Amino acid sequence: MSILVTGGAGFIGSNTCISLIDSGHSVIVADNFCNSDPQVIENIQKITQAKVVKYKVDITDESQVSSIFENHSIEGVIHFAGYKSVGESVVEPVAYYHNNLMSTIAVAKSCLEYGVKKLIFSSSATVYGENVSPLVEDMHLHQTTNPYGETKAMSERILKDISYANPHLSIALLRYFNPVGAHISGLIGEAPNGIPNNLMPYVTKTAKGELEYLNVFGNDYPTVDGTGVRDYIHVTDLAEGHVAALQNIEKGAHVYNLGTGRGTSVLELVTTFEEVNKINIPYKIVDRRPGDIATCYADVTKAKKELGWEAKRDIRDMCRDSWRFEQNLHRFVKA
Ligand SMILES: NC(=O)c1ccc[n+]([C@@H]2O[C@H](COP(=O)([O-])OP(=O)(O)OC[C@H]3O[C@@H](n4cnc5c(N)ncnc54)[C@H](O)[C@@H]3O)[C@@H](O)[C@H]2O)c1
Repeated sequence: MSILVTGGAGFIGSNTCISLIDSGHSVIVADNFCNSDPQVIENIQKITQAKVVKYKVDITDESQVSSIFENHSIEGVIHFAGYKSVGESVVEPVAYYHNNLMSTIAVAKSCLEYGVKKLIFSSSATVYGENVSPLVEDMHLHQTTNPYGETKAMSERILKDISYANPHLSIALLRYFNPVGAHISGLIGEAPNGIPNNLMPYVTKTAKGELEYLNVFGNDYPTVDGTGVRDYIHVTDLAEGHVAALQNIEKGAHVYNLGTGRGTSVLELVTTFEEVNKINIPYKIVDRRPGDIATCYADVTKAKKELGWEAKRDIRDMCRDSWRFEQNLHRFVKA
């Protein structure tokens, strides 16, 4: 199939392009590179030896999006493009609502206009708010705790309504847990600007000496060692989850958790990283971060049953591949 990947130069999108190509699909990337480097497209081509068609467009711009559909016979869309920082969304809510909602609407409009039947959307475990783990897809969702999470909850609602009105569509709403790791080549991974928000880039930057020590936010949670527990998933497993969704999704709008179903504490991850990569990570315990919860992990039964997909890589693979990518980062120069 010919698949349009919005945000395909980003962390998860680029890894998904590789899995799509490996599964025999052809890929068209649309990205404005506001949080990625065009060099990533070259690296996808280098790894896969396949041609990737690239458009530099703002996905909130309906006419630009529509012209891509005009030029290609697109059979499915995976919509990654969006802003993703919880903290930034609290400070810049208008930018988040505009980018994340208008892009979803523009993509959905073109899918309807051009008869595309399969649409896969990047949602997030943040839509579960403060529900108690394991998190199950049909749980009642409480109020989200930040604008970013709300853009995901609202996008899910918009896409469900579109599905009710257009029952011939197959829409997958994929709720990601904590994607980490990198492509095994070390060429494609997560390269955030500035001080990272997420644990793994923080760990790798500390390992590299770019940050003096890792801040561990709280060690008095009711968990195995007092530090927060999350469901980390290798980005290659996540990418393969998109291919499985594309191939197995039925008509209607369907929600799937993409996680491992296993929780790992901050200190467990740090210790594993040290063991696997034989490198010391200095850390300091600091106050809890407002809004953080103790434990968050997925129930992954539904994706396994209906999509035939489950995560294969473990936390050691995630630590090894993240570090390999971080050590390669000097090769990338921001455009
Ligand atoms: N990484 C995570 O922890 C995580 C967790 C849950 C959900 N998600 C969601 O998955 C998706 C991909 O996440 P990621 O980690 O790969 O993020 P990313 O920032 O690496 O990738 C997003 C890509 O979208 C592009 N983009 C953003 N707005 C755009 C626009 N208006 N027009 C064109 N391109 C635009 C960026 O340039 C970037 O290449 C996002 O929607 C994010 O909210 C991410």
